[in-house]
Amino acid sequence: MPENMIQADGLVKIYKTKQTEVLALQGLDLTVEEGELTAIIGNSGSGKSTFLNMIGGLDRPSAGSLFVAGSNLFTMNEKQLVHYKRDTVGFVWQNNGRNLLPYLTVLENVMLPMNLSNTKNKRAKALELLDMVGMSSKRRSRMNMLSGGEQQRIAIAIALANSPKLLLADEPTGSVDVKTANYIFDVFSELNKSGQTILIVTHDVALSKKVKRVVAIRDGKISSERVLKEAYADRLQENTIDWRQEDTQDEYAILDRAGRVQIPAEILQNLNLKGNKISIGYHDGKVVLSNPDAE
Ligand SMILES: Nc1ncnc2c1ncn2[C@@H]1O[C@H](COP(=O)(O)OP(=O)(O)OP(=O)(O)O)[C@@H](O)[C@H]1O
Ligand SMILES: [Mg+2]
Repeated sequence: MPENMIQADGLVKIYKTKQTEVLALQGLDLTVEEGELTAIIGNSGSGKSTFLNMIGGLDRPSAGSLFVAGSNLFTMNEKQLVHYKRDTVGFVWQNNGRNLLPYLTVLENVMLPMNLSNTKNKRAKALELLDMVGMSSKRRSRMNMLSGGEQQRIAIAIALANSPKLLLADEPTGSVDVKTANYIFDVFSELNKSGQTILIVTHDVALSKKVKRVVAIRDGKISSERVLKEAYADRLQENTIDWRQEDTQDEYAILDRAGRVQIPAEILQNLNLKGNKISIGYHDGKVVLSNPDAE
């Protein structure tokens, strides 16, 4: 039985400012198993980064429950949180300027986080990671000599330096060109094949269509989920396919733990409801929703 890597139940995050309170997560439920590669999509402001930041231990959730690799993000003290951030999760951002040091070489940058842990053979491990992201030939270059896409690959190597159980990436291909985005995505794919659990936020439709499991966040909750069709599983690296056009996934609505389902607006409008009452019936193995006035 695979262990649950992420278990979020009724997760709530409230940001308080002087004037207002923002409900960034509104009872989010999500389970991610060890070894999964999951993408999160959703409109701007829907709560994607907030959720990732909670999982990464960068910010504290307000209510609900959140376990990552068996650690309870609600009860951890500051010291435990420091260890958690160093050993359990690795983080890649859209713009990685803030975690790369320009005056060090690529290799030194990758070895840096290992100095805080007791990793053996730091140099060998760093070279292995650079090889994995296709950057060994640039190991002696300084960061400011690299392109955005190359820096992003180094950032992935750094995020993996302490062998995190979970790799988190927030828009990792947000500021690179299509070719680099594909390359970076392939790096994530390869990592996942070798067992790395990955959770990645992306706006990139073409990339999200190549992911086995895509969860959509709307108003701080998971609203729907897409699962890659079997027929595409072995074709993910075929670049003759126009992934943007292809219908690669089956889409499902999400039943929350209280039995609620969000009905997509475009389906609901067919019922021409006058008020907010809806009839629910069960016929021939199907749950049927109908307009009570039309019966
Ligand atoms: N530190 C903060 N203080 C106050 N409000 C915040 C803070 N961080 C996020 N929010 C608010 O919480 C909501 C969710 O923001 P979040 O950054 O999670 O969205 P997102 O889905 O990542 O959007 P984007 O796609 O634009 O990155 C937004 O309304 C945002 O304004
Ligand atoms: Mg965001």
